[in-house]
Amino acid sequence: MKVVMINGQNHKGSTYHIGKILCEKITQENEITEFFLPKDLNHFCTGCLACIQDESKCPFYNQKKVIMDAMEEAEILILTTPTYCMAPSAPMKAFIDLFYQYWIPHRPRKSMFLKKAIVVSTAAGAGMSKAIEPVKRTLKYWGVPNVYTYALGIQAGNWEEVSEKNKIKIEKDMKRLSEKVKDSKVKQPSLYIKFMFNLMVKAKQKEDYFSDESKHWKEQGWLDSKKPWR
Ligand SMILES: Cc1cc2nc3c(=O)[nH]c(=O)nc-3n(C[C@H](O)[C@H](O)[C@H](O)COP(=O)(O)O)c2cc1C
Repeated sequence: MKVVMINGQNHKGSTYHIGKILCEKITQENEITEFFLPKDLNHFCTGCLACIQDESKCPFYNQKKVIMDAMEEAEILILTTPTYCMAPSAPMKAFIDLFYQYWIPHRPRKSMFLKKAIVVSTAAGAGMSKAIEPVKRTLKYWGVPNVYTYALGIQAGNWEEVSEKNKIKIEKDMKRLSEKVKDSKVKQPSLYIKFMFNLMVKAKQKEDYFSDESKHWKEQGWLDSKKPWR
C-alpha cells in the first residue's frame, strides 16, 4: 500500500516521528515516500493564478510535479505539521496555497476522491486542532472522502524530550489509528461536497472566462454526467 508523507517541517521532531510510526504501521518502508517542507518545495504562491488555467504554467511546476506524481499513486496521504502560534507551520500553509488548483471549483483530481488521508499535529500544550483544521479542510476540498486526524499536546520541544509515558501512548494510538485507516472503506463524498461538485458542473458548462478549467472538467467526462467517486 503506497503512502506519501508530507511534512510541514524540515526537521525530524515529535510530529515527524509520530507520522513515521503511523506510516510504518500502515505499510512497508519501500512503499513510503516522504517529502519535507520547505526543502522539497521552497516557494510561496505568487498569486498569478496560472495553475488554474494550466498547472504546468505554475512557476514552481517542476518541484510540484514530483510531489503531485507521488500523491497521485498513493492510497494514503499523511500530512504532518507542528503547531506554530495555534496554526499550521508556514511551509505547510505555503504547500496548501501551492496546490490551490486541486480545489473542487478549479482542477480537482479524480484520484483524490478515492484516497484516505491523515493529518497529524503536535503542540507543547494547545492549538493542535487549529493547526489541523486548515489542512483537513484543504483535503476535503480536494475531494478526499476519508480524512482522519491525530493531535497531541506533547509538553516537549523535540522528540528526545517526549516522556516514556507519552511514547507508549503514541505507539498504542498509532496502532489503533493505522488499523482504523486500513480497515475503512473509501467513503462517498459528503452531501456538501457532492452538492458543490454538481454546482460546479453547472458553472463549468456555462463558463468561458476560465475556459481551460472547463476543458479539464470536459476531459474527465464530468460535464457529461460522469462522477469522480465510486
Ligand atoms: C514558532 C513556534 C510556535 C509555537 N506555537 C505553539 C502554540 O501555539 N501552542 C503550543 O502549545 N506550542 C507551540 N509551539 C511548540 C511546538 O508546537 C511543540 O513543541 C511541537 O510539539 C513541536 O513539534 P516538532 O517536535 O515536530 O517540531 C511552538 C513552537 C514554535 C517553534
